[in-house]
Amino acid sequence: MAPSTRRVDSKPKPGQGVRDASDRPRPLALVTGASAGLGRELSLLLAQRGYDLVVVARREDRLTALKQEVATKFGARTKVVVEDLSHAAAPRRILEELRSAKLEVEYLVNNAGYGLDGRFLTHQWSEHAQFLQVMVGSWLQLTHGLLPTMVRKGHGRVLNVSSLASLCPEPPGSLYSPVKCLMTATSRALRMDLLHTGVHCTALCPGFTYTEFHDVLGNRKAMNALPRFMWQEARPVCLAGLDGAERNKAVVVPGAFNKTASFLCRVLPYSLTSKLIPKSVMER
Ligand SMILES: NC(=O)c1ccc[n+]([C@@H]2O[C@H](COP(=O)([O-])OP(=O)(O)OC[C@H]3O[C@@H](n4cnc5c(N)ncnc54)[C@H](OP(=O)(O)O)[C@@H]3O)[C@@H](O)[C@H]2O)c1
Repeated sequence: MAPSTRRVDSKPKPGQGVRDASDRPRPLALVTGASAGLGRELSLLLAQRGYDLVVVARREDRLTALKQEVATKFGARTKVVVEDLSHAAAPRRILEELRSAKLEVEYLVNNAGYGLDGRFLTHQWSEHAQFLQVMVGSWLQLTHGLLPTMVRKGHGRVLNVSSLASLCPEPPGSLYSPVKCLMTATSRALRMDLLHTGVHCTALCPGFTYTEFHDVLGNRKAMNALPRFMWQEARPVCLAGLDGAERNKAVVVPGAFNKTASFLCRVLPYSLTSKLIPKSVMER
């Protein structure tokens, strides 16, 4: 696990907020898991669309490089927040930091995540507990803390990076699909809760996407055996998510293969679809 250090840089003066070179206030987006993969791509796209950023992850060097990249390319300002979201106190610290800097987030991307390989009993409870904190507790607390300002302002977006796994039968013993089910279901529930407030809430449900996810999981070799048509690049996945959030779609499933898979899982009986889980996934 990464060290528990936590630092914040690019701190604007109180009351100033994050501003662009012309000193016009730009809306602010917070992206968790911005150091790699989908989070990094979503950060770049949001900066391109005129947002300043708060980027959260454990790897400070990656976040600092991203900060420089969006400043050069898009004139965006970035607050780097180095946090390990498996720590129960992390969301509260992030919320307090934003409050003390008088920064109001208009776009929240709950993206940080990873998979836990193996079966339920191959892991210590402490590993499951950390996993649940990153994959459930952290983003729910951030959302609960940031929504009131969005509702008060009558404008906001919450994009939850869930998974196609939340719409398909669960592989044996893994808590990954169940936590993503909770994320997708919560997104639907919040979207209904927020109707007519100007705040949208959307679950993005990608299938296999080229990021570092499977390298971290340690099953890249097995994943490489899956046919190319089952995979997507990160950019189209992120564009579909941002577009869906703009249109207040409840759930976005990007890509033709994933759309077909989720449709079949919805209409076919579980007794059949549960037999279609790829062997490489079953053997994790
Ligand atoms: N790639 C896929 O095939 C796929 C498919 C469906 C859904 N997803 C979902 O997409 C989301 C993004 O994953 P990705 O594919 O982009 O994977 P990735 O390239 O491995 O990126 C994961 C991000 O999450 C951050 N993260 C992980 N644990 C963290 C922790 N304890 N504290 C703070 N940040 C943490 C990582 O940052 P640090 O390591 O720097 O902390 C990294 O920025 C995840 O929620 C994943 O479940 C991915």
